[in-house]
Amino acid sequence: KIKILAISGSLRSNSSNTALVRAIANLSPKNIDFTIYNGLGDLPHFNPDIDIDDHEPPAVKDLRTQLKEADGVLICTPEYGNGVPGVLKNALDWIVSSGEFMNKPTAVISASPSPMGGDKAHASLLLTLKMIDATIVEGGTMMIPHIGLKLNKEGIITDLDTKQKLLSVLWMLEQACH
Ligand code: FNR
Repeated sequence: KIKILAISGSLRSNSSNTALVRAIANLSPKNIDFTIYNGLGDLPHFNPDIDIDDHEPPAVKDLRTQLKEADGVLICTPEYGNGVPGVLKNALDWIVSSGEFMNKPTAVISASPSPMGGDKAHASLLLTLKMIDATIVEGGTMMIPHIGLKLNKEGIITDLDTKQKLLSVLWMLEQACH
């Protein structure tokens, strides 16, 4: 089985990005072991002073272990203030020195109610992921504009085109994990 760790960059309970991650989990075939990371809000603020070998904060250790064990990663993020949400950037900052993203096939999705689809956060996230040597999956990136029109209140994808593109991203990620 292929292990995919999915991360939503939003802490909001009604998050469209978290809804997308859940929808993708429901779309994923049986040969994928799809885990949704739920520790983003528990990570301490990145501070090298508390990143002590074998004594890193438990939430950091948990993130690093989950990333290490994953064959591939899928990130779904909103954009805040033209950038990557602080909580998501914070999580990545913890990984810069430990290296769990190295050569890790990674798919990147941004979703926003704006017509730009979170393009600035998307571009910024790619810069950070490339810096930590993640393998950005070809065909594994997607920006979703007008997200409010594509998910219903229950978080189900109602837009067929979006659903097909998400399936394609998942397929490309899966291929990159083999
Ligand atoms: C936003 N939003 C937003 N959207 C965007 O495309 N570019 C941006 O720079 C911002 N900035 C921003 C700042 C703040 C303070 C808020 C509250 C919101 C809108 C954002 O995309 C929208 O709230 C999404 O629904 C957030 O994603 P989730 O939580 O639905 O996944």
